[in-house]
Amino acid sequence: MTVVVGTQWGDEGKGKLTDLLASEMQVVVRYQGGHNAGHTIVVDGETFALQLVPSGVLYPHTVPVIGNGVVVDPVVLLEEVDMLSAKGIDCSRLLISGNAHLIMPYHQELDRVTERYLGKNSLGTTKRGIGPAYADKAARVGLRVQDILDAKIFREKLDIVLKEKNAVLAKVYNRLPLDADEIASKYLDEYAPRVAPMIADTVSFVHDALEVGQNVLLEGAQATFLDLDQGTYPFVTSSNPCAGGASTGTGIGPKLIDKVIGIAKAYVTRVGSGPFPTELHDELGDELVDRGHEYGVNTKRRRRTGWFDAVLLRQAARVNSLTEVALTKLDILDTFDTLKVCVAYEADGKRYDYVPYHQSVFHAVKPVYEELPGWKCDLSGITNVSELPGKARDYVQFLEAQIGVPIDLVGVGPGRNQFLRMQGGA
Ligand code: IMP
Repeated sequence: MTVVVGTQWGDEGKGKLTDLLASEMQVVVRYQGGHNAGHTIVVDGETFALQLVPSGVLYPHTVPVIGNGVVVDPVVLLEEVDMLSAKGIDCSRLLISGNAHLIMPYHQELDRVTERYLGKNSLGTTKRGIGPAYADKAARVGLRVQDILDAKIFREKLDIVLKEKNAVLAKVYNRLPLDADEIASKYLDEYAPRVAPMIADTVSFVHDALEVGQNVLLEGAQATFLDLDQGTYPFVTSSNPCAGGASTGTGIGPKLIDKVIGIAKAYVTRVGSGPFPTELHDELGDELVDRGHEYGVNTKRRRRTGWFDAVLLRQAARVNSLTEVALTKLDILDTFDTLKVCVAYEADGKRYDYVPYHQSVFHAVKPVYEELPGWKCDLSGITNVSELPGKARDYVQFLEAQIGVPIDLVGVGPGRNQFLRMQGGA
């Protein structure tokens, strides 16, 4: 079983890699996050922007599964299914864990008002209700996908939780209360009939698939440094994108995982607030934004950009037990004369090879850079690794040596077939 995990702050190209690997997979499971993710996949010239449905849906031989660790907004789910169906993609194989939690209208409302309330300290969330939904899960007042199968249970749970949410919305945030009848009618009458056939015991489904020798891919959303436990807290998402989350979010023990592929951009981007040691605030940063089209798939926000940070990757290799790395968007660096790579941090006269645990140190670190020459030519047409110019190969090999994990795949363009296989590492 293989896990695909983001190693930076998201948007590394997980959708594209998952899509590539899906050709060898019979099952693809999303294990955490919700529609805060935005996976762009280009197949035969057509672009698919997926938020919730696992990218494996694009392969007829694959069963796409939404695992128990995901939070599901049924409106988005159904819109996505309709969008895919309209493009001729069959979604009838899609399975959703009955134990996944539902995103409710009050979660979105709370995400919006709390972000506003935090003002300049806001986290820059996607305002999709992700954090409030996971908070309710932990507080044990969440509604789960299975609850829509029983109107009585759904209504009981909704009435209890909505009382408290409405009090908070009205008294703390001065908002209008939400109506229980309206919510119940939407979830039970409108969404339930369409979602019910997709609901399954996904834990048993995946174990049964493994027992008959099928290949299973566990697809993460967001990334290591947005992980609630391993990321730059509080500037993180509310779930565990790290490889450990793949176990809890699907119900599969860690011993069954044999490959953990870390996906990394050849530079770094981040959306939303939080520390970013190698961030560029100059025209080179703008060049990365322009060349890399660094705008969120989901919220359309301009991404922050910076040089490749090997410290992040070393840390990601540890906390995820990475077995290999897939490097994406190498072609975006085609025009640069020189490339900087952060090989360590310095703070208070101390050198750090791994991410310092203390937030004040991390906020204060200065990157230690090494400079490499750019290759100054177009990589996007390359189809075989042997055509890679020496300086581009040197850059990849330098990163590989810094990370200490083989770089097996290098992306030179957005298409499924624009990944070069490095054969046993760079
Ligand atoms: P939330 O996940 O909407 O709560 O947002 C928390 C943080 O994670 C914010 O900084 C978001 O910009 C970031 N984030 C959430 N999902 C993604 C993603 O798919 N890519 C990149 N950043 C994300």
